[in-house]
Amino acid sequence: MKVLVIGSGGREHALVWKLKRSPRVSEIFCAPGNGGISQIAECVPLKISDHDALVKFAKERGIGLTVVGPDDALAAGIADRFQREGLRTFGPTQSAARLESSKVFAKEFMLRHGIPTAASGQFSNADDARAFVAKMSVPIVVKASGLAFGKGVIIAQTHAEAETAIREIMEERKFGDAGAEVVVEEFLEGEECSIHALVDGRSYLLFPSAQDHKRALDGDLGLNTGGMGTFSPAAKVLPPALEQRVCIEVLDRFIAGLSKDGLDYRGMLFPGLMITRDGIKVLEFNCRFGDPETQVLLTRLESDLLDLLEATIDQRLDTAVARWRPEAAVCVILASGGYPGSYAGGKKITGLEKSDVTVFHAGTKREGGDFLTAGGRVLGVTALAPTLAEAKSRAYAAVAGIHFEGMQFRSDIAAKGL
Ligand code: AMP
Ligand code: GLY
Repeated sequence: MKVLVIGSGGREHALVWKLKRSPRVSEIFCAPGNGGISQIAECVPLKISDHDALVKFAKERGIGLTVVGPDDALAAGIADRFQREGLRTFGPTQSAARLESSKVFAKEFMLRHGIPTAASGQFSNADDARAFVAKMSVPIVVKASGLAFGKGVIIAQTHAEAETAIREIMEERKFGDAGAEVVVEEFLEGEECSIHALVDGRSYLLFPSAQDHKRALDGDLGLNTGGMGTFSPAAKVLPPALEQRVCIEVLDRFIAGLSKDGLDYRGMLFPGLMITRDGIKVLEFNCRFGDPETQVLLTRLESDLLDLLEATIDQRLDTAVARWRPEAAVCVILASGGYPGSYAGGKKITGLEKSDVTVFHAGTKREGGDFLTAGGRVLGVTALAPTLAEAKSRAYAAVAGIHFEGMQFRSDIAAKGL
């Protein structure tokens, strides 16, 4: 089968890398892809937003399955368009993907179906949001409802900060229409954990746990980023007993909720969780694979990913089985200097050829024989080893051999899991 992966980050590199290992995949394409992906797939220079061109390409090349990576593509209805054209696609429809693209929709879904989450109010009117904030104790979390490149969540330490956030999001439209509505919620204390499960609308298949590191600097300091590194399993934050509760309180109720609401959800579901003293709370739903969670999860996946994606589309997850390697995986993100603020691109990357771990490219391009930086997150250095401690030291040993001007990374990825 010919497979097309849509996207251009580290997650897509990992998807292509894993799908290519399937004996049933004859050819693999990525639109638009990146420097690293171009080593193992044919990259097609098409914009993710250009659905006409993507459909045309998929038809001309006889693509048997298209796998959609990023949230904005799903929110824009790419899966609906491909399906209307008779093209087989992995990723939820626009309507189902509202669980990620509208935090208000997600919150109401969770409330309707008893999925534990932070106490909150949902507002389309700034005055109502301000009145709600006035009654809350600090810190207060203010979230733009729509997609805002991971920047739409403000943790306000004072009431004044919360009011500023409401003004900027709703009245000044700092994130555009993503700020037409807001969710205002209580601040939760605890450890975050990433859960992934394939969902076919009737059943789900749980993946192992993972933990991301969202802040830019060691010790969870600095600005929020797309994710600076991951490890799996995250057994310390999510021991088996808690994982069982995730199944009962989040995933079983999610599936029941889909059928009550008549929502046809087929794809990956990635709930971001906070493990608090009062139990598990869902912070958000993501309707896609996490980045950089995918890099560690697919490194550990033994089974054929194509089989699992097809079982999801065909609603056969009730009989699907995934086999996982017992080893632990750690992914350390190497980012451009200045990220998540402004940064320069075009820096030459050295030391890649010597690496004995898997290096997933996030923001790179190939020029002649060289790889150059071309994004905030540049590489995801991913190691697999019998223990988490060994995976961590293998990943960092490989990081030490890679260089580009301004390279920054966290030196404590996976430390919390040890
Ligand atoms: P979200 O996009 O909703 O996952 O929020 C992004 C990040 O903000 C999360 O990964 C958390 O680190 C933080 N966050 C979101 N909601 C809360 C909350 N209610 N309490 C504490 N931190 C939160
Ligand atoms: N790793 C966080 C995300 O993919 O949203």
